[in-house]
This record gives sequence, structure tokens and C-alpha cells, in this order.
Amino acid sequence: MTEWLHALETTALAVALRDSVWAYPLVNAAHLLGVALLVGGIVPLDLRLVGFWRTVPVADLARVLRGVAASGLFLALLAGALLFATRAAEYAASPYFLAKMGVVCVGGVNALLATRWPPERLSKAGYRAAAVAVVSILSWISALVLGRLVGYF
Ligand code: HEM
Repeated sequence: MTEWLHALETTALAVALRDSVWAYPLVNAAHLLGVALLVGGIVPLDLRLVGFWRTVPVADLARVLRGVAASGLFLALLAGALLFATRAAEYAASPYFLAKMGVVCVGGVNALLATRWPPERLSKAGYRAAAVAVVSILSWISALVLGRLVGYF
């Protein structure tokens, strides 16, 4: 287990990133941009699905915000994987990091479940869409808080 983590953090890319004055902060910024797009996109849609702003058409909101959130998730995963590679063994031993990966998986599977409702069918999905929205909010906010805690513990 630790061998592949060590191999990962000694790859040329990981070493270059870890030793670079500019690249690491830029990748970190890309990770945070991804997080901002993900959380900023999905939370308003989730709140609409649990009953806020009922006068706003949910299909229109979903058409815009799902794309924003999916792009953010893609960027966060990509940049997150690069950050992980710089200190793979240390992160893999952190309970906060492992808990974060757990909630990212829950959030990801939950988001895939939500794709069974195309935007125009979301308004008919009722409490099932609301339940998926609650799991979504809890998992992405937990990922955000745990991600921040990794740097402190
Ligand atoms: C496969 C997915 C992901 C991986 C591998 C990953 C990995 C990482 C790593 C290695 C760090 C640096 C931790 C440190 O030393 O301070 C980090 C920071 C962070 N991550 Fe992720 N991450 C992922 C997805 C996410 C998601 C989905 C969120 C939020 C919804 C998130 C939120 C954060 C936050 C808030 C930070 C702290 C940034 C800072 O304080 O500069 N991450 N992540």
C-alpha cells in the first residue's frame, strides 16, 4: 500500500509541483475555483429542490447550475489529485483526508443518482429529489470543511 504512495510522490510531476514556488499555489487556486463552482452551483439548486424560491422555474435553474457544478467537480477532482500526489503517504494517513474522500464518494454517487431526472422532470420528482438535494448539500459542505481541516491536523 505505502509503496505505490511513495512511488506516486516521487514521480517527476509530483516532485516538480512540490518544489515549485508558483505551480503549487496555482494548482491549489484551481482546486478552490473548482470547489467554488461546485458548491456555488449545486447548493442553490439543492435549496430550490427542498422548497426555497418556488416561483423560480426549477428546470431553467437545473439546466444552468448542473453544468456549472459538474465543471467545478471535474476541476476539483483533477487539481485535488495533483495536490494529493505531492504528499500522498501523509494524506493517505490523515483521518480527515480519508473522511473527505468518503464524503466526496457519497456526493458523487448521489449526483449520479440525480441524473435520472432530466431538468424538465425535476419538478415532478417531489420528495425523492428533495432527499437527494439534502444528501448533496450535506456531502459537499462536509467535503469543504474536511478539506480545510486537513491543513490543520
Ligand atoms: C478526488 C477529489 C479530491 C482530492 C484528491 C482532494 C485533495 C486535496 C488536497 C491534497 C488538499 C490539500 C490539503 C492541505 O494540505 O491543506 C485539498 C484541499 C482542499 N480541498 Fe480538496 N480534494 C478533492 C476534492 C475536494 C472537494 C470535492 C472539495 C469541496 C467540496 C474539496 C475542498 C477542499 C478545501 C476547502 C481545501 C483547502 C484548500 C486550502 O485551504 O487552501 N476538495 N484537497
